[in-house]
Amino acid sequence: MRRRSRTMLALAAALALISTALHAPPAKASNQLHQVHQLHQVHQVHQVTYDKYSLKIDGKRVLLRAGEFHYFRLPSPGLWRDVLEKYKAEGFNAVSIYFHWGYHSPKPGVYDFTGVRDVDRLLRTAEEVGLYVIARPGPYINAETTGGGLPAWLKNVPGRARSSDPGYTAAYQDWLGHIDPYLAEHQVTRGGSVVLYNAENEYAANTDRQYMADLQAKARADGIDVPITHNQCCDAASWTTDWSTGLGAVDIAGVDDYPQSFECREPDTPWGPWGEGVTERLSDKSPVFAAEYQAGSIDAQGVGFDKCRQLTGVKYMKYFYKNNLIQSGATLFSYYMGFGGTNWGWLPQPNDVGTSYDYGSQITENRQLTDKYDEFKRQNYFLGAAAGPLTETDPATAPAHDNSALQTVARANPSSGTQFVLLRHTDRAATTDDSTTLDWTTRDGRYTLPVRLNGRDAKVLVGGYDMGGQRLAVSSSEIMTHAEIGGRDVALLYGRDGEAGRTVLRYSGAPTVKVLPGDGGVRASYANGDLTLDYTHRGLARVQISGGGRRPLLLLLGTDEEAAKFWRADTSAGPVLVRGTSLLRSAQMRGGTLDLRADTAAAGDIEVFGPGRKVAVNDTAIPVHGTASGSLAGRVPGPRPATVPALTGWRTHSEAPEAATAFDDSSWTVADHTTHADDYGFHNGHVWYRGRFTATGAETTVKTNAITGKNGIYQVWLNGRYLGSAAGGVQADAGEGTTTPPNPDPGPGSFSIPSGLLKKGEPAVLSVLVENMGHNDDWTAEEIRHKQPRGLVGASITGSAGQISWRIQGAKGGEDLTDKARGPFNNGGLYGERTGWHLPGFGDGGWKASAPGSVTPGVNWYRTAFGLNLPKKQDVPLTLHFAKGDGKYRVLLFVNGWNLGQYINGEVQQDFALPAGLLKERGRNTLALAVVAENDAKLSPPSLRIVANHLGGVSP
Ligand code: GAL
Repeated sequence: MRRRSRTMLALAAALALISTALHAPPAKASNQLHQVHQLHQVHQVHQVTYDKYSLKIDGKRVLLRAGEFHYFRLPSPGLWRDVLEKYKAEGFNAVSIYFHWGYHSPKPGVYDFTGVRDVDRLLRTAEEVGLYVIARPGPYINAETTGGGLPAWLKNVPGRARSSDPGYTAAYQDWLGHIDPYLAEHQVTRGGSVVLYNAENEYAANTDRQYMADLQAKARADGIDVPITHNQCCDAASWTTDWSTGLGAVDIAGVDDYPQSFECREPDTPWGPWGEGVTERLSDKSPVFAAEYQAGSIDAQGVGFDKCRQLTGVKYMKYFYKNNLIQSGATLFSYYMGFGGTNWGWLPQPNDVGTSYDYGSQITENRQLTDKYDEFKRQNYFLGAAAGPLTETDPATAPAHDNSALQTVARANPSSGTQFVLLRHTDRAATTDDSTTLDWTTRDGRYTLPVRLNGRDAKVLVGGYDMGGQRLAVSSSEIMTHAEIGGRDVALLYGRDGEAGRTVLRYSGAPTVKVLPGDGGVRASYANGDLTLDYTHRGLARVQISGGGRRPLLLLLGTDEEAAKFWRADTSAGPVLVRGTSLLRSAQMRGGTLDLRADTAAAGDIEVFGPGRKVAVNDTAIPVHGTASGSLAGRVPGPRPATVPALTGWRTHSEAPEAATAFDDSSWTVADHTTHADDYGFHNGHVWYRGRFTATGAETTVKTNAITGKNGIYQVWLNGRYLGSAAGGVQADAGEGTTTPPNPDPGPGSFSIPSGLLKKGEPAVLSVLVENMGHNDDWTAEEIRHKQPRGLVGASITGSAGQISWRIQGAKGGEDLTDKARGPFNNGGLYGERTGWHLPGFGDGGWKASAPGSVTPGVNWYRTAFGLNLPKKQDVPLTLHFAKGDGKYRVLLFVNGWNLGQYINGEVQQDFALPAGLLKERGRNTLALAVVAENDAKLSPPSLRIVANHLGGVSP
């Protein structure tokens, strides 16, 4: 990422073969891209249009709600389905996806879309799960990933990136020429799920309209016929305030908002330090689009992602998301991130992130659901249920009241008159407990409604609303969802524990009201067509209402927590509500049985409101009985216990033969023009330099300069003797908008030469191992940022005037990958990596038996293997845990050859995700550690940890 100042942030259509009112794209089951062509004949194709209110699919308004997902941060394609099903289950109907140019292209003209890079599979999975896709192929994506998604080889292409410069243009057009066909084939207009195409990313710092125009012309030429969007940043500072007209204008311009900033250090203090977070309307021809709305944070201060989750927690979500919904009138939302994932290998951009990209999201890096997930579910279900009136609203007169500490803001649907009233504190940071009575006029009449806001909170109250077959006049409870099930309406409303609630429903005559035994103390009264229910939100109350000229209603009134226990899924026989389980993935009617795919963390009760009288969970019938609420109740089993072995049987070997004078580097590349590693195609991980010179015997000091990116180190040896290490230069901070030349002394190191080490007239070898922590992003679209060099940029020897002649070696093969499956970011140029010590098949029998412990400076490897026998049909995510050790060292960890990150002793991240799929859950796994120590250090052996255990899950 980059620095953002406060001011900056205040800152086709195809014929519908069969046209149905869709809430989600149809399922599809093709296997290969070329097969998709043939499937057009059988799959529904849809038309996408929009107006100032919303997106429309086949003419029907859609309220788009997406979570951002980065497939490149989950190197286990089978688990993509798990995450996407979790998105769907929390009420998202879309997923927003960056496509990472550098992840697919190790070398100019070379692309890979297989294995963990199989974007066709990704898009197919989204279709099967039933999520629309906002496709974001960049070319620039930012995303705190190396180079901001630009391939590192672009450093060697002349011309300013993210402009219409010819060199860059040729490069990015080739990328789009490769990725666009996948996106085009998967568009909703061809029966797929891609509904929007985002060009570029926060293109606010440059002024090249032609570039924006070229990007879109290319997309259109490649067959993209859905609306093209752009996520503008930092509105006030942008180069144009109207993206809807003129050269480079997009169809739908959206805005990115991160109102809570990225200061996870003090998670409870700020309350919108970067503004109120109300998405600006950028055009009156297209809907308001919250293109990236903050749903977590990077952990730039290294305080741990739990603090980021707190910074962007439930209270933040309640206040900012609801405030934005009602104030902005946005009908397209994308939340960044829905699930962050892992910066495995050399994916991170070093300035802001390390291995974990958990992001403090509602779904953790290990795919676990949090209280933020519950809040998304409450809000998203409401958006789904009320999408009809919500997708077309104008600002409206808000109900009056007399408490200046509280504020009401309203929108209304112009045709139905349905009102959506935001109740918030006047001072958004207020933590007081305030109450008032709203004087609220709706199409049903004038109502007085007591309301309360206790602390940081906000509510969206609905008035004059057709709630299925019911008419909701007003309510001080919030709507979570409602559905017609089995000939009656089931509606779920909720409020904060202990707060009073009032709901008024309209009838043509007095209905029969039956309050079922339970919580809430519901009192009912009827007068003049209004049934008024007064109650306290406590546990879950149930009220059955029939007669009064409407179909029967089961009204469920719960606390936030009780409401969050409900899941909603749709089947061909209608919607289903399920109370219980830890996740309902989907539901299906088979014969007379309602078949649920659900996860459970423990055995427990389940209650089902749905079609049919029989229930199966994960293909196993469960006994159920009817309840007084007209639901079915039963019990679901929990998971069997899971265990992991202790890691034993370690073997070790030290490396870095490159330090020795006699090492044969004749096959290495001669570094004859610059020492920048990227010039020689060594873009990721460690790079070795060996410099030869003839000693004078009078040398005293080696002086070096290297650029590693933040947190990187480099190490120096002379004639095999370790001289020491230094912090590498960062050079990311020339400053926004400046073109200051790179710091001439970026990562200085000065090392004394022990006397007697060099002898006059004798050849000497200086060996330098430089880590590359990743490439800077290009947020400000300046030439110098992403092109800042990596590697050894200067070396001199005091006391010697002679020339040093250099050779360089990074990852084996350089841009010509030797390990195509694991790809460009898996390996750097450590000796062990070049020799395959990280790979499962490597024979370490000759290595010394020893567990990780004391190490000397340099590079030491440890290997072991472990068997896993995790229970089948269970989801048991594991991490590798590193206990803090002594000394300055860092560890690259490889599981079955995959580089799953870097533990840096002393830094906050001690647990590293080991995704199932590449981790064999029932089989033998190889663990290899490359320990790079700067001094004598002592590490404690890592251990496997079980993060969670669920019955269910997906098969990775
Ligand atoms: C946005 C950017 C994203 C990501 C985010 C911070 O400005 O578009 O790619 O960098 O900031 O996590």
